[in-house]
Amino acid sequence: MIAPAPAGRGDTVITIDLSGRHAVVMGVANHRSLSWAIAQQLHRAGAALCLTYAGERLRADVEQLASRLPGTLTLACDVTEDRTISAVARRLQREWGSVECLVHGIAYARKQDLEGKFVATSREGFQIALEVSAYSLLNVTNHLLPLLERNGASIVTLSYLAAERAVPNYNVMGSAKAVLEQSVRQLAWELGPKEIRVNAISAGPVSTLAARGVHGFVGMLRHHAERAPLRRNITREEVGSAGLFMLSDLSSGITGETLYVDAGYHVMGL
Ligand SMILES: NC(=O)c1ccc[n+]([C@@H]2O[C@H](COP(=O)([O-])OP(=O)(O)OC[C@H]3O[C@@H](n4cnc5c(N)ncnc54)[C@H](O)[C@@H]3O)[C@@H](O)[C@H]2O)c1
Repeated sequence: MIAPAPAGRGDTVITIDLSGRHAVVMGVANHRSLSWAIAQQLHRAGAALCLTYAGERLRADVEQLASRLPGTLTLACDVTEDRTISAVARRLQREWGSVECLVHGIAYARKQDLEGKFVATSREGFQIALEVSAYSLLNVTNHLLPLLERNGASIVTLSYLAAERAVPNYNVMGSAKAVLEQSVRQLAWELGPKEIRVNAISAGPVSTLAARGVHGFVGMLRHHAERAPLRRNITREEVGSAGLFMLSDLSSGITGETLYVDAGYHVMGL
């Protein structure tokens, strides 16, 4: 909902009010995670939150973060295991009965596939990267569909420019992001009649656990800051606020889109 609020000068300001909405945020590993930046903004806008984490190893950290956002649920969900996705869907059916916002901030590739020769990517390495980083968007959406279609919903996933350009060392993750962005368009078409919107945010480099797995990541940060029109790197808060926009009614006419939050880097030709 977009609520007008008195501004005090005979004017009105727009506030984003997500109270009464339920948001599932997948992919919080720690306070650096881009999903965490979006979760914080959703909380500030009044949405009820469920953070999912990949496994037992992350549980304590995610629970500790969730405690900063009162009322937030935390549930385990490894996207390579359908039974954990089903368990999340069942629990949310009981707790909420509907989901209006879904954040998919999940990606994984084996370390050796983010530094060696792309041409030598193993069959298994390719499958793992695409399953976790792209197929999971479809699969999670499918498991949550009865909840997402209750009131209509907005889904946001996180992508990177390597979906469409060659980026050194990004290797198989570029392949995964290309599939992810195509999946966003295809899902947008298929789910549009149910009032479910599906979009991607293509973020510039930000230092996170996943990003640091890419060989030469620090050099990437430097390069982006030098070349981007804004002559700097983005902040995780900028991804958070773009996420909030995409998950709110302010973006109600937008679906199937990839929104660049990259200080303008992608527009450059040289
Ligand atoms: N940080 C960047 O520079 C950058 C730029 C563009 C896009 N992205 C994308 O943003 C998303 C979030 O990454 P991040 O940078 O915040 O790093 P992150 O490491 O904080 O998040 C990645 C998340 O994926 C989760 N994950 C991995 N395997 C999983 C599995 N099997 N089941 C469930 N969850 C699993 C991890 O637990 C982690 O929470 C990723 O899709 C990433 O590709 C990041």
